Amino acid sequence: MKDHSKAVIGIINVSDRASKGIYEDIPGKAIRSTLEEYLKTPFEVVYEVIPDEEDQIADAMKMMADQKGCCLIVTSGGTGPADRDVTPEATESVCDKMMPGFGELMRMESLKYVPTAILSRQTAGIRNHTLIVNLPGKPKAIRECLDAVFPAIPYCIDLIDGPYLETDESVIKAFRPKSAQKPK
Ligand code: MTE
Repeated sequence: MKDHSKAVIGIINVSDRASKGIYEDIPGKAIRSTLEEYLKTPFEVVYEVIPDEEDQIADAMKMMADQKGCCLIVTSGGTGPADRDVTPEATESVCDKMMPGFGELMRMESLKYVPTAILSRQTAGIRNHTLIVNLPGKPKAIRECLDAVFPAIPYCIDLIDGPYLETDESVIKAFRPKSAQKPK
């Protein structure tokens, strides 16, 4: 039986330089503090800072999904066109189904801020009971992208048999069809 009373969320900062301690892990911290602002439901965080290596990224995702029971994994970085950018490939390699709407919406939204938004190949997908979402590595991009897609995330997690996530509606309002809403 799955434990629905507890939410576990994975955060992976994919960065060669942050993993070596050359950069401070600002993106990982930005994801964590944004989720703390958004969510009323208590959650535990599983956290990794890893280099831009497809196998290591895929292993971290599998560990968080299969062993730690994360309902959501959010990654930052490695979505661009450069040689070492392989986060979308790692995501595809571990997912059973892709959710292209996430990348489409994030790029559309990001275009309001930067003309280079189309350089991000960020995507999302489902591995069993886990939704995996890629964000670009820039700390500013993290909030811009999460604000765009997060309203759909709690219902997506309901649909893959995860915990019922409640948001602080003064910060972000999740959308669920009436039939899926639990009485407050
Ligand atoms: N999206 C937002 N919202 N804000 C940004 O500054 N930067 C873009 C793009 N998406 C950006 C953005 C740039 S310059 C690149 S190269 C890609 O994200 C990939 O970033 P990554 O390699 O850090 O994942």
